[in-house]
Amino acid sequence: MGKPKVFVTRIIPSEGLDQIHAYCDATVWEDELPPPREVILQEARDADGLVSLLTDTIDGELMDACPRLRVVSNYAVGFDNLDIPAGTSRGILMGNTPGVLTETTADFAFALLMASARRIVEGADYVRAGNWKTWGPMLLLGVDVHHATLGLLGLGRIGVEMAKRARGFDMKVIYYDVFRREDMEQQFGLTYAPMEDVLKQADFVSIHTPLTPETHHLMNRQRFALMKPNAVLINTSRGPVVDNDALLEALQSGQIAGAGLDVTEPEPLPADSPLAHLPNCLVVPHIASASRVTRGKMADIAARNLIAGLQGEALPCGLNNDALGQGRSTLPRDW
Ligand code: GLV
Ligand code: GLV
Repeated sequence: MGKPKVFVTRIIPSEGLDQIHAYCDATVWEDELPPPREVILQEARDADGLVSLLTDTIDGELMDACPRLRVVSNYAVGFDNLDIPAGTSRGILMGNTPGVLTETTADFAFALLMASARRIVEGADYVRAGNWKTWGPMLLLGVDVHHATLGLLGLGRIGVEMAKRARGFDMKVIYYDVFRREDMEQQFGLTYAPMEDVLKQADFVSIHTPLTPETHHLMNRQRFALMKPNAVLINTSRGPVVDNDALLEALQSGQIAGAGLDVTEPEPLPADSPLAHLPNCLVVPHIASASRVTRGKMADIAARNLIAGLQGEALPCGLNNDALGQGRSTLPRDW
């Protein structure tokens, strides 16, 4: 008996890769850049399992080109890169890595909020450029975080952790979500409001929605127009939730005061994009979950999802465990 064949689209931490190598005959794409689509199609054409990253589009066409594929394990909590219905209809199990990155991501969203409000990166650039001459009464004035109003768009796991952090700074927290969470309102003193009111009242707007057709360009011209001129937008969700052109306009015209972005559209943000150069826009390269410990935990879950799917079991963090016992997941295994 051989081992199941899998393709892993990037080197992930050893907490996952060691398990994958122990159980599978694994090919790992070792480049810094994602494998081109032709490479995934080629490498996965006789694979039983695939570990994908958020930079890989896993759709029905790919699944049809890889007839043995029975499990796709996405090394991310977000899964807008996966076509779940296409997987389900073929009996391909799919999983993600929720939970373990929630607090790490909220820590980072709050760090972006603080850094944007208090102009930390501008200050560091100023010192590095040799511009620091004296203590200046008007130097690099920012906005206060304490007692300000935080508006959350999306109150999932990460949104809740963001609210908890904000409470430590005596912020008032309001939120909008398609699902109202009265339990969280009571537990953490949050106020629910329609999206328009959140945008009108918040000093900081932080986005914590998944990317779906409904949230694509959620932040558009009309919605930026509702925000306060002192307001700062924080995005750690997915770039396309924000219309970049509308954001650029809002930042350049003074419609809003600033933005802190961990995610952009496209990624990477081209080096000559105006957003990368505006002093009131802080852009970092999609690193909100990037603590060593969290990336290790994500790798462990990704490996456990993969191996469970190869064994014909429900994934510990499955996105479509209802596909179990259907289509390919029932095919006889010959390893
Ligand atoms: C990162 O953005 C993730 O979805 O895990
Ligand atoms: C992501 O894990 C969320 O639910 O916010």
